[in-house]
Amino acid sequence: MFQPAQVRLSQKCWNNSEARLLEAEFRVCAGGAFARVRFSSHPHEKEHFRAKGRDVPQIFTASADTRLRAVLALLALMLIAALAFLKYQDSAYATLRDWVRHQPVPFSHEHHVGGLGIDCRYCHTSVEEDASAGLPPTHICMTCHSQLWTSAPMLAPVRQSLAEGNPLEWQRVARVPDYVYFNHSIHIQRGVACVECHGRVDKMPLMKRAKAFQMQFCLDCHRDPAPNLRPPDQVTRMDWSSWKQNSSEHEDYGRLMVKAYGIQPSKLDDCSICHR
Ligand code: HEC
Ligand code: HEC
Ligand code: HEC
Ligand code: HEC
Ligand code: HEC
Repeated sequence: MFQPAQVRLSQKCWNNSEARLLEAEFRVCAGGAFARVRFSSHPHEKEHFRAKGRDVPQIFTASADTRLRAVLALLALMLIAALAFLKYQDSAYATLRDWVRHQPVPFSHEHHVGGLGIDCRYCHTSVEEDASAGLPPTHICMTCHSQLWTSAPMLAPVRQSLAEGNPLEWQRVARVPDYVYFNHSIHIQRGVACVECHGRVDKMPLMKRAKAFQMQFCLDCHRDPAPNLRPPDQVTRMDWSSWKQNSSEHEDYGRLMVKAYGIQPSKLDDCSICHR
């Protein structure tokens, strides 16, 4: 993980009849490492330094001084650009974390899951058997909304979709690239809870992406799945704070289950598991 990178440029300039000194210092701090790059020039003051007993050779001429400044400015820009790029890779913008998209209907998981307590599997019907969880067809909404909120303008696209037989076009937020193979059913069968990968969906008025789904995220769990295993019949439960409090008993659960299922963490990070 990259810490916020800092580049600091301190430039000191003395200008008097005797001495002229340009000094520039970069401090670069990234990922816990710290580096300091320092430049200084002593344009025509050879004698001056000599006089003080310091033998500084004449390296820089007056025009070199200007050039040095230009080079320094360019270097600073390059450093900033490089560090900004590294930070960008982990930023919410690049990873689409917290990403919300405009949907045909402003469907709220907070209301339907958190408020009404509808189980995920009522709408995402294939999550236990298939690779994909599936998005609900219109008639599932209509089991309730043919009686509830029947004339709400907000639900007009749902009624229209049912009348015309065209599915609603939900915009996806949780995705992995095509070259990554993912399968819901194996995770659900082993008791990896939805909340591990999708966050507190019951608190989302609009769906957003909770995790970055970078490779490291998958690998972190694959190399040590035990602490993340739950009873498979409870995978849709969102709040596990009480489970985490009662830790010793539950830690044993994960380790036992890794054995019982024959999960081999040493093989779960093979490239061919996810890149087939
Ligand atoms: C099990 C019943 C049920 C199902 C299924 C259901 N809803 Fe709802 N929905 C409700 C209830 C009850 C409310 C009112 C909630 C409130 O006011 O707290 C509601 C409210 C809404 C609202 C109004 C805004 C809001 O969230 O309060 C929208 C929009 C909506 N539902 C869309 C949908 C869509 C789209 C589907 C299908 C994917 C769907 N609903 C499926 C029961 C249901
Ligand atoms: C009443 C139906 C309903 C229930 C219950 C429901 N969902 Fe959804 N879910 C939807 C609809 C409709 C969408 C598409 C619209 C959206 O993204 O808000 C969706 C989208 C999602 C997405 C985003 C998929 C993507 O790539 O865009 C995730 C993740 C998700 N649901 C997880 C859950 C989880 C976890 C639960 C249970 C805690 C749950 N849902 C319960 C109807 C439901
Ligand atoms: C181990 C992580 C993980 C778990 C656990 C998980 N998901 Fe997902 N989910 C993903 C990933 C990754 C995607 C994107 C898949 C893709 O792009 O092909 C996804 C996509 C989705 C989608 C988008 C539509 C689709 O058909 O796939 C829905 C809906 C969804 N998940 C719901 C759920 C529900 C409900 C649960 C719990 C019962 C759950 N997920 C558990 C990682 C997970
Ligand atoms: C919180 C834990 C967790 C996370 C996060 C997770 N997985 Fe898994 N994954 C598991 C477990 C547990 C298994 C089951 C292993 C077994 O039974 O051998 C598994 C199995 C799989 C399998 C099936 C392996 C097989 O042999 O068929 C694939 C593919 C996979 N995961 C892909 C992914 C991808 C891609 C991601 C990231 C988007 C991901 N997983 C994130 C825990 C996790
Ligand atoms: C548990 C699943 C999983 C395993 C195992 C896995 N990858 Fe990935 N890999 C992913 C995911 C998810 C992404 C997508 C990352 C993204 O979208 O940022 C990815 C992306 C990549 C990329 C694209 C560049 C990048 O880093 O984003 C390369 C290259 C890659 N993987 C190589 C490998 C190699 C080599 C191995 C074996 C040592 C491996 N992967 C094992 C899940 C996995």
